[in-house]
This record gives sequence, C-alpha cells and structure tokens, in this order.
Amino acid sequence: MIEDFDLAGRVALITGASRGLGLATARALACAGAHVVVTDIDLPASEAAAAKLLDDGLRAEAALLDVTDEPGIKSLVADIAARHDRIDILVNNAGMILRKPLVDTTGDEFRRLLNVDLVSMLLLAGAVAPVMAKNGYGRIINLSSIMGNIGRAGQATYVAAKHGVVGLTKSLAAEFGPQGITSNAVAPGYFFTEMNKQILDDQDFYQSVISRTPLRRWAEADELGGTMVFLASKASAYLTGQTLVLDGGMTVTVPGPAGTS
Ligand SMILES: NC(=O)c1ccc[n+]([C@@H]2O[C@H](COP(=O)([O-])OP(=O)(O)OC[C@H]3O[C@@H](n4cnc5c(N)ncnc54)[C@H](O)[C@@H]3O)[C@@H](O)[C@H]2O)c1
Repeated sequence: MIEDFDLAGRVALITGASRGLGLATARALACAGAHVVVTDIDLPASEAAAAKLLDDGLRAEAALLDVTDEPGIKSLVADIAARHDRIDILVNNAGMILRKPLVDTTGDEFRRLLNVDLVSMLLLAGAVAPVMAKNGYGRIINLSSIMGNIGRAGQATYVAAKHGVVGLTKSLAAEFGPQGITSNAVAPGYFFTEMNKQILDDQDFYQSVISRTPLRRWAEADELGGTMVFLASKASAYLTGQTLVLDGGMTVTVPGPAGTS
C-alpha cells in the first residue's frame, strides 16, 4: 500500500514555491521521490530553494515564472515537457492577499488579485493538461483557503478568488477526468508564512484563531506536506473535484463555550 504514495519518476511543477506553503509542498513531493520544478516570480529565491533541496539529496530545478504571464506559462511548460517528456503534478500555489475595506478597493486591485490567485490556475491547468494526458496520469492541486468556503469582512477580493478556485477545481475534474487527470483543492486555515506576517503581529487576532480552533494552535507550513503527497500520488486515484480543508477544525464548529448557544 505504501508504494501508492511513492512519487519516484514523477515530475512536479509548483508555482510560488520559493517559500511558505509552496516550498513546503516542493520539499514534501521531492521527499516522496518526485523531481520538483521550483518556480516563482522571484528567481534568486527559487534558485536558493532548489539548491537547498539538491543539497539535501533531493531532485529539484529552479525556474522563473510570473503566473500572470501567459506566454511565460506556455514556454515554461513546453520547456519542461521537452526536457523531461512529462509533467505529472501541477501545484497551483502562488497567491497574494489584499486586506482592505471593500469601499476602498479599486477594480484594478480586484483584477490584479484575480489574475494572480485564479486566472493563473486556469492558464496553468490548460497548458499542462495536454502534457499530462499524453502519459494518462495527472494531478492538479489548487491552493484555495478556508476563505474559499466562507466570507470575511475586509477580504472580499481574496474570498471571491478563492471561491472561484473551488469552482474551477470541480470543472477541471470534469473536463480532464476522462484523460486520467484528477483535480483537487486544499483549503488551509492559519499557517505560519510570510502571507500572515502582518496579522501575526496582532496578538489579539493570533490568540483568537487559537481559541476558535479545536486543535488550539496555528499550523507549521510543513504540515501541508502529507496531504500534498496524498493528492499527488496514486493513493488518491479516485478522489477528484474535492476541496480538503486543513484548518485544525476551525470552520466546522461555532466558537465559544460548549453548548451555551
Ligand atoms: N498561509 C496561510 O495560512 C494560507 C491559508 C490559506 C491559503 N493560503 C494559500 O496558500 C498559497 C501560498 O501561500 P503562502 O502563505 O505560502 O504565501 P507566501 O506569501 O508566503 O508565498 C507566496 C509565494 O507566491 C509567490 N508569488 C506571488 N505572486 C506571484 C506571481 N505573480 N507569480 C509567481 N509567484 C508569485 C511569492 O513570491 C511567494 O513565493 C496561496 O495561494 C495562499 O492564498 C495560505
């Protein structure tokens, strides 16, 4: 059974992978045997991340990819496919957040966020799926968020994009399933990464997450790894179109003392 989780011989393209959840995913997939292409808008950072993985005896390479650059997506996918003759796993991880009252948010800000957090995933899936289909195996994994399942004041743009990711994930499952490609999303709760640096400075909010979370803590980035290996591997062969929520139980219950309301 354990061999179903083995990724030896697989090639994975991960976006926004030079730090945070993308880097944790790259390390987890590489530890399971995959060759990982660590892409990011920040090339020196992705080169440093790939070099560290190589130092640790893992298989990795770095590449520049701004996920809003449509021609750049096409040429990178063609380049990887030409050199490796396969792309088995696509992790659409790159993302940004905008914490701003709705009334102060401009259309340009909303469009920019949608391009980075949602449109990019459609473009990457469209570019990679034909390469996956050639080998009859594909795993598309999209980063949503608990904000893809619930609403939140001050984050309407991010919430809208992440709800879009959930819908896109289901449609990719329907469209590419017949070619042996699965599409699933993960919806993290609160993890320690750069994206949350600003809110980590707010002790009241930090503690409020803990008190609302049944597991009573935030998560480390590498705690995403096991789920990503599962979704990338044969072990998840019949799972598609789903969103797995990793939030320590935060969104399955009502905060407050037991049974008082
Ligand atoms: N950290 C959390 O608690 C959390 C919770 C829910 C969802 N997520 C999602 O997980 C993903 C990763 O988040 P993170 O916390 O690791 O964030 P992060 O800010 O630490 O890392 C994001 C990465 O994406 C890259 N990036 C940004 N814009 C890009 C672009 N246009 N092209 C290519 N790369 C780009 C950045 O350079 C960075 O390496 C995001 O999609 C985010 O929405 C994170």
